[in-house]
Amino acid sequence: MRGYARSLVLGVAGLVLGAWLLAPSTRSTAADGGKEVREAILKIAASLEKGDKDGAKKEAAALAKKMQGKKPEVEMEELMHMFQLRSKKGLGAGTKAGAIMPDGIEKKIEILAEKAIPAKQLDDEAKGLEEMGYHLAAIGEIAALAVPIEKDMGKKKVKDWVKWSEDMKAAGVDLAAGAKGKKADAIKTAADKANTSCTKCHDVFRYDN
Ligand code: HEC
Repeated sequence: MRGYARSLVLGVAGLVLGAWLLAPSTRSTAADGGKEVREAILKIAASLEKGDKDGAKKEAAALAKKMQGKKPEVEMEELMHMFQLRSKKGLGAGTKAGAIMPDGIEKKIEILAEKAIPAKQLDDEAKGLEEMGYHLAAIGEIAALAVPIEKDMGKKKVKDWVKWSEDMKAAGVDLAAGAKGKKADAIKTAADKANTSCTKCHDVFRYDN
């Protein structure tokens, strides 16, 4: 009976392993242009813009869930890649290609944080900057729920990850409000706050720099 039980266990283990090996990969690679991540960000951003905080959180939680576990379907790198230039398959700055230059969230934020955007340029870019602010906030919302560690590991603290993600989200909302109100100073302050959150988190959690 013992021998039988053991071979049964081995047999089941073999079946599970076989099914796992044969299962098609559901991982959304950068080859799909980050479609799933992109769509989630736009959806969450729209909810945030409408003031639907619960909806935004729910949508963010759905993606964050896929980013966790031993074999995440969606990698943190794919989410972060959205900060890159549109030409590098990032999300781009705002929804309209080429409306804002440089056309990428990371580069644009750096410039906005350096010096207040001139009034004429703000007039031209306000709509796109508002969109970009909500995109940034959406990425922060997702990141806050997609903590990559289960418990503190040395310098890497769960609490810090969540805080820097939430700082990024708040900075995005501030940036959107500043753009909507055409307040160059508020935009600069928000961009600076966003930049600080990137640097702080990368210093501790990013491996490739
Ligand atoms: C809460 C932590 C956290 C915050 C906040 C954060 N990042 Fe990241 N970022 C990471 C981690 C972790 C990686 C490394 C991901 C990997 O390669 O697995 C990363 C990687 C990146 C990459 C490289 C990904 C690629 O494929 O190009 C870029 C670009 C990036 N981050 C931009 C930003 C910008 C811009 C901000 C701020 C607006 C920001 N990040 C804020 C954690 C964070």
